Amino acid sequence: MSDVSLETIVSLAKRRGFVFQASEIYGGLGGFYDYGPLGVELVNNLKQEWWKAMVREHDNIFGVDGAIIQNPKLWEASGHVAGFTDPLVEDTVTHKRYRADHLAGVDSNDLEELTRLLKDKKSPDGNPLGPVRTFNMMMKTFIGPVEDTESIAYLRPETAGSIFTNYENVRETMRAKLPFGIAQIGKAFRNEISPRDFIFRVRELEQMEMQYFIRPETQEKTYEEWREFAWKFLVERLGIDEENLQWHEHDENERAHYAAAAHDIYFKYPQGFKELWGTHNRTDYDLGAHMKVSGKDLQYFDDATRERFTPYVIESSVGVGRMLMAVLVDAYHEEEVNGEKRVVLKLKPSLAPYRVAVSPLLKNKPELVAKAHEVYATLKKEFGNVMWDDNGNIGKRYRRQDEIGTPYCVVIDFDTLEGDTKDTVTVRNRDTTEQKRVAIDQLIKELN
Ligand code: GAP
Repeated sequence: MSDVSLETIVSLAKRRGFVFQASEIYGGLGGFYDYGPLGVELVNNLKQEWWKAMVREHDNIFGVDGAIIQNPKLWEASGHVAGFTDPLVEDTVTHKRYRADHLAGVDSNDLEELTRLLKDKKSPDGNPLGPVRTFNMMMKTFIGPVEDTESIAYLRPETAGSIFTNYENVRETMRAKLPFGIAQIGKAFRNEISPRDFIFRVRELEQMEMQYFIRPETQEKTYEEWREFAWKFLVERLGIDEENLQWHEHDENERAHYAAAAHDIYFKYPQGFKELWGTHNRTDYDLGAHMKVSGKDLQYFDDATRERFTPYVIESSVGVGRMLMAVLVDAYHEEEVNGEKRVVLKLKPSLAPYRVAVSPLLKNKPELVAKAHEVYATLKKEFGNVMWDDNGNIGKRYRRQDEIGTPYCVVIDFDTLEGDTKDTVTVRNRDTTEQKRVAIDQLIKELN
């Protein structure tokens, strides 16, 4: 179990090219981050793993990729324009704004409760606080050349919106019968009052969401199944230590406006156990609301029972950034090897930005370099994510690869070129640090 500090993770992420501050040369922008060369590989691997488990491995779950900006009526119908709010308080002297629930130290959206809890509290700067009020987190923009109330549009606050509006399109085109699901990966935007804790709470985020449309009477059972899916995915597909995970059930004051029940999986981030993945019972709230506002019939007709009804929805929703941060924190280990500290990311090989690094023992020996290039080309063709590394001595290269989670290093040395060991290389294992000789023609099998 890893107890790494936030500073250590932020520093590693920057130093090794996982995550950079957005617009860093201009001083950054609060709540926005860019992924670097290694970060984007890790993000893509996480998304791929989720898509595989969610869409490819289910015959009845279909993918979509909706627009970020939709007709604003969608967000009026979904309740986000009126109700997607966080509680806010302002320092009456500095006018800095804070999440009231964070200052009160509770998971609650209840204004009365927060007002009571904050009655005698001061702001972090020691000044009196103003009244607790609600703040809408929808990010706005304008469509077309005129900036007036008629042209206001919203950047989507969750990917779920265009899943609901495409429910009937997907059902019809895929000839889907209940139960079936629609999945989407994409960006969402929230004007968070206080973005914080690195990529944990940001204003531009990416979500992986799946809405599962069901008969109402199966809601409890289906809800449990998708809770189990999320837990198993984190443990089995991402290799996260179960000790770093726990369940958190939302009480009435915490649930989003659309949810009748909600369970989060919390991960042990450096700042404590916090929300990583939510499973929500959205009932017939969304389809019902869209039917009302759009006037379109989104009811389902069951051929077998001859019933017509509005499907219920169980939602599975997780943030890509929070998943990446959880994976980095969980994989981070500091160990002592031969009296020296080594930092190692024990990432699952399927997630690691690079599967293998290839090195000539010495970079000024052309015969070693030529052979190493040959091996590199073969492995690159097979795996794609292979790194050429001839920088510094071999010990330094191992440390560097350990720190970015590369499961194997392959070294071409003089024994590769002649004698009994001709056409064999050294393969060094990241986790055990053990080295063994492997024939070049067995390498792909060995590294798979
Ligand atoms: N469609 C349901 C929904 O959006 P949510 O609990 O608001 O539910 C789902 O968000 C997931 O998205 C969270 O569990 C979290 O992983 C991620 N998420 C939400 N807000 C975020 C933020 N400001 N920064 C990073 N990730 C966030």
